[in-house]
Amino acid sequence: MPVVGLGTWKAPPGMVGQTVEQALLSYGYRHVDCAMVYGNEKEIGLALQRVWSTGLNREEVFITSKLWNAGHEPHQVQAACEQTMRDLNVPYLDLYLMHWGLAERLSQSSEPRRNWRGQGLDKHGMVLTAPVSIRETWEAMEGLVRAGLVKAIGVANFTTMMLMDLLTYARVSPSVNQIELHPYNQQTRLVEFCQKQGIAVTAYSPLGSPGNAKPQEPNLLSDPTLTSIAREHNKTPAQICLRWALERSTIVIPKSTHSERLRENIDLFSFSLTPKNKEALASLEQRHRYVDPFEWWGVPYFD
Ligand code: A2P
Repeated sequence: MPVVGLGTWKAPPGMVGQTVEQALLSYGYRHVDCAMVYGNEKEIGLALQRVWSTGLNREEVFITSKLWNAGHEPHQVQAACEQTMRDLNVPYLDLYLMHWGLAERLSQSSEPRRNWRGQGLDKHGMVLTAPVSIRETWEAMEGLVRAGLVKAIGVANFTTMMLMDLLTYARVSPSVNQIELHPYNQQTRLVEFCQKQGIAVTAYSPLGSPGNAKPQEPNLLSDPTLTSIAREHNKTPAQICLRWALERSTIVIPKSTHSERLRENIDLFSFSLTPKNKEALASLEQRHRYVDPFEWWGVPYFD
């Protein structure tokens, strides 16, 4: 699995295709991280078609997608995966992740309140969850590996206890846990737990999610410690965050739709952090999550 991938969350329609094409053909990316819920897989699929026509092979690019929460019922899983494969124009996925460990109720036209995705909301405006266990969904995902649709399966946003439970029954072990990781949310014990279990860890929002953060949230990329380490290495704060993640043996999937940043975000192999740099970065931990589903489920998922 290439350790730097292109993130596509919030990569807007009308732009994402050209970004994927540029990342793969001009900047040497060989890993694209997608998800059905990002709403841009069709456009990525058209871009991939153009990419294949240049002679780059499907086997040379690692493609991940994710099962959305409203598709957790076992009978929905294969159809959701096949829809993503059709949209992305690929005969298989390298990795398919359970996007969150909580099922959402499939939209019903009778529900009076709905969000922008058409999902039913309760009277407090929270997305309705559904009584589907992680085990049921996981077992259906194992079927995707057996059917040859995906090379590997994994999870995202799983906590240690969710993984421990999963490992008691999984016949196909999760290959990856994709979680929010950056110097303000380091989750060192979870990272080490996964790595001990042979589960690779992918860091999402590795730059502190500048495109998603609210104005009152801390701005990681302008942190003085980070910017001073960046100056020391003649690199950008983003490159320091990404290099820090690689030195923890985690995989990074920074998203950008700007060519300069695409180039910068994969140019991480000509320098390394000193022990003093790492100590300073470790001290930035503040357990700050930029992505907390409490806001949309009202469920304290990470507490
Ligand atoms: P843009 O797409 O306009 O370049 P994360 O992966 O942590 O969620 O961060 C993605 C956000 O960070 C996007 O808003 C992206 O903006 C911005 N970004 C990506 N690369 C860089 C960079 N090298 N320097 C500064 N901001 C960046």
